[in-house]
Amino acid sequence: MLILGLESSCDETAAALVTGDRRILAHKLARQEEAHRPYGGVVPEIAARAHVEMIGPLVEQALAEADVTLSEVDAVAATAGPGLIGGVMVGLVTGKALALAANKPLIAVNHLEGHALSPRLTDPDLQFPYLLLLVSGGHCQLLLVEGPGAYRRLATTIDDAAGEAFDKTAKLLGLGFPGGPAVEEAARRGDPRAVPLPRPLVGSAEPHFSFAGLKSDVARKAGQYAVEDMAASFQQAVVDCLVDRTRIALDKVTASALVVAGGVAANKAVRGALEALAAEHGLRFVAPPLWLCTDNAAMIAWAGAERFAAGFTDPLDFPARPRWPLDPEAEKVRGAGVKA
Ligand code: KG4
Ligand code: ZN
Repeated sequence: MLILGLESSCDETAAALVTGDRRILAHKLARQEEAHRPYGGVVPEIAARAHVEMIGPLVEQALAEADVTLSEVDAVAATAGPGLIGGVMVGLVTGKALALAANKPLIAVNHLEGHALSPRLTDPDLQFPYLLLLVSGGHCQLLLVEGPGAYRRLATTIDDAAGEAFDKTAKLLGLGFPGGPAVEEAARRGDPRAVPLPRPLVGSAEPHFSFAGLKSDVARKAGQYAVEDMAASFQQAVVDCLVDRTRIALDKVTASALVVAGGVAANKAVRGALEALAAEHGLRFVAPPLWLCTDNAAMIAWAGAERFAAGFTDPLDFPARPRWPLDPEAEKVRGAGVKA
């Protein structure tokens, strides 16, 4: 089984070819960091235009690198949401056009499912169900992953996502964009105990997250301490929140492993602390390689492969969805804003 995957929901344009037996035949990615840097964040209109320019060439390069033609692909998987709607439409329309031209099925992939299943692309031993901490720029959730299309959301953030907190903190500390890697780098040279910062919701009975209060306190204290100490103390506060909340969720489910995915899973302090938590519970810990944590098309192709194997394909009029919760049954959380 050979799947072409397309990703364009935020500021990375990507195309990949992945097989059902976990071989990544090609993976092409174009970043837009430079285009957005002057604005200190992703500008949706600039992102959509860049996706339009890049997606065609990336698909051609991926096919060439894998040395296959479109007719050899079994299905085309494209991110259909959630994300910035202009960008999502570019990848989804491209996927539909390629599927139509090659007379292959379309698989509309939820970007979050791409992150959620990504650890299984590089770890064939990872079995369902597993507890997933999904931490990215737009989301912070704990999910029980039972299979493709089968998710139980145990917790979400009532305000900011963890990656968003990293990005805003980086801005406040003058560390630039994108923020997560910059904060991690600065934190390496700082003292995580130097600045007293809050750990919102730590100790509460339900495993939800909150980062807005932490960010405001960083804003209040920025300038009073060395940037490295601020970064290290902020990162430690996020790690403490993630670990405490995940520990509560672990007590509520039966899982084969603790898994972390999404852009913030690239952070070594986050990975290390979760690995220790898993060990404490006698559980396997699985985290994708760093390149597979941040947005990419291999994870979309792989989610497509898992969905295709499970018998799911989608009609060519499948809509682009700016919001698309993985668990539609999940209860609304008091205080939760627009985050799915
Ligand atoms: O999954 P992703 O690439 O895009 C979304 O779907 O949101 O995640 C991007 C987020 C950004 O907020 C970025 O700052 C954060 O992941 N991130 C990190 C690190 N690398 C990326 N946060 C902390 N430490 C990192 N090393
Ligand atoms: Zn993502």
